[in-house]
Amino acid sequence: MLILGIETSCDETSAAILETKSGKVKILSNVVSSQIKLHSKFGGVVPSLAAREHNKNLVKVLKKALAGRSFSKIDLIAVTAGPGLVSSLLVGTAFAKALAWKFEKPIIGVNHMEGHILSNFLGPANKSIPIPDKKEVFPALNLIVSGGHTQLVLMKDFGKYRLLGETRDDAAGEAFDKIARILGLGYPGGPAIAKEAERATSGKQKVVGLPRPMINSKNYEFSFAGLKTAVLYLVRDILIKRKVKKLNGQTVADIAAAAQEAIVDVLVSKTLRAAKEYKIKSVMLSGGVSANKLLRQRLAEAVEKSGRGLKLFVPEMSYTTDNAAMIAIAGYFNKARAGKWQKVKAEANWGIV
Ligand code: KG4
Ligand code: ZN
Repeated sequence: MLILGIETSCDETSAAILETKSGKVKILSNVVSSQIKLHSKFGGVVPSLAAREHNKNLVKVLKKALAGRSFSKIDLIAVTAGPGLVSSLLVGTAFAKALAWKFEKPIIGVNHMEGHILSNFLGPANKSIPIPDKKEVFPALNLIVSGGHTQLVLMKDFGKYRLLGETRDDAAGEAFDKIARILGLGYPGGPAIAKEAERATSGKQKVVGLPRPMINSKNYEFSFAGLKTAVLYLVRDILIKRKVKKLNGQTVADIAAAAQEAIVDVLVSKTLRAAKEYKIKSVMLSGGVSANKLLRQRLAEAVEKSGRGLKLFVPEMSYTTDNAAMIAIAGYFNKARAGKWQKVKAEANWGIV
């Protein structure tokens, strides 16, 4: 079966083709047109510009993903139905519905967060990957960390999710982005901070003394707004003390490293505590922030140290930020749950916005 995935929930226009055959999945193409350049001068995503850009690029991106294949070969269209920017979502869903109508294909609206979770089950392009044995994987714990979300999700099976906790204010990616802005680094902030942190004075991140908000709270909620404010005050105090208008490069690197450490500490600590409480078998990481090397490294170390024989899943780098490959695989699992999916036509609503 060939599934076309379409993703336009935020600022990436993406189309992907997933092939499923006897319990294996293979990504044949995953085309992403990023709008980062367009939004970077505003320091964040501008919804109206994002929607226009999706509208402009969708046909191009789809053609590239089809790579000469006839549309008649597609068996199912999976499109992101939410959550996301409504104006961006509407462009993608209207496009997908029109395709489903024109080519008489079944269509399914999928949840963007489920897409992030399931990105862990995809292999690199053109590599067939078996769907793992449920008994070995579940219950699983998913840490979804992106620009819009920070969620700890307990997964008992494909399609069975329970939200254990999420951020009360800023998402982890948002914290990276806002702190980067305070430090005068570019957008997106996550990769910029990670890069700066590599130049930090060894050990300095420990003495900078940034807080780890809610690290010891008994629930699985997060809060990163206070960390951003702490960085803001720290920078202000340094400027006053040194009687300068701008931080020097080394100080920027040291603060970047300290902020990255603080965010990673909170994420890893809460994830491992939940893993213990819910006796889970595997830990999965997803979302844009899952590209962060320190987070991957610390989580791997903590999983190893826990001695619980936990499996660790991390997505391929190309599936960390928003992409349609993850939407296609979410379509595959949604279809399996929907049963009589063949009867689903474009006029059916399927949770589409
Ligand atoms: O999942 P995503 O592409 O979009 C949303 O659904 O939000 O995530 C984007 C977020 C941005 O906040 C960006 O700063 C962050 O992911 N990010 C990173 C890294 N790469 C992207 N954060 C930390 N380290 C990275 N290497
Ligand atoms: Zn996302």
